[in-house]
Amino acid sequence: MKPRRYPPVAAMTAAGQTGVVRDIFTTVHGRYDFLNHLLSLRRDVGWRAVAIGRMSFPRTRRFLDVATGTADLAIAAARRHPGVRVVGLDFAAPMLEVGRRKVRVAGLSERIELLEGDALALPFPDRSFDVTAVAFGMRNMPDKLRVLREMARVTAPGGQVMILEMTFAPRPLFRPLYGFYLGGVLPRLARLFARNGATYFYLGDSIRHFPAPPVLASLMRQAGLQSVSWHRLTFGTAYLHIGRTPGGF
Ligand SMILES: C[S@@+](CC[C@H](N)C(=O)[O-])C[C@H]1O[C@@H](n2cnc3c(N)ncnc32)[C@H](O)[C@@H]1O
Repeated sequence: MKPRRYPPVAAMTAAGQTGVVRDIFTTVHGRYDFLNHLLSLRRDVGWRAVAIGRMSFPRTRRFLDVATGTADLAIAAARRHPGVRVVGLDFAAPMLEVGRRKVRVAGLSERIELLEGDALALPFPDRSFDVTAVAFGMRNMPDKLRVLREMARVTAPGGQVMILEMTFAPRPLFRPLYGFYLGGVLPRLARLFARNGATYFYLGDSIRHFPAPPVLASLMRQAGLQSVSWHRLTFGTAYLHIGRTPGGF
């Protein structure tokens, strides 16, 4: 297979980036979990657990995992919150196929449903979920405000909207090391293990271009969310943002 090349994120149009993202996640699915754990040094598992530990389900008892991919967040949330029903949504059918197998193996098919769809137009009525989250997916969505508005719309009053993402906002002492990892180590590791090595040039590049925590928080407020907070994870290599929809108790 001819190696692919993707343009830098800064040079992509919104439609161009969405095309690249679709291309990546319809080719990487078979190795996604392995590479995700390897390249994040398995921190992704702990970061999802932090988000899941902060979720609460007082009303609808339903959770929406936007850009669910291979359903890691959906499965971990269902295990941690036994009475909750989960919907995972993604536009890459091959990722969902891997996810469906994992859901079956975990014995959670009764509680987790995986659907093909676009985060820009969530196929759910208003106020359907207590918690709506996206893990490591927001970086791939050029129109972040539109996605956040959709997430806020389908979240019940007083519910939580969570964004978990790898970012390039580390503590100052850690910055050179992390910069070297993203620009030097990560693409080399990827070339060894991924069939589509260009994917991991895109990964490092998209992490560097993700908005800094206060900028993402301000987008969340623009989307109508309140009490927005952010939580630094592993020296600032990832952040969890949480906002609440207005209303509630
Ligand atoms: C890095 S993976 C993250 C998967 C998963 N959330 C996790 O924690 O591992 C990003 C996912 O976002 C999906 N995605 C990107 N843009 C999307 C969109 N507009 N609508 C639905 N899914 C999207 C991709 O198909 C991919 O499966």
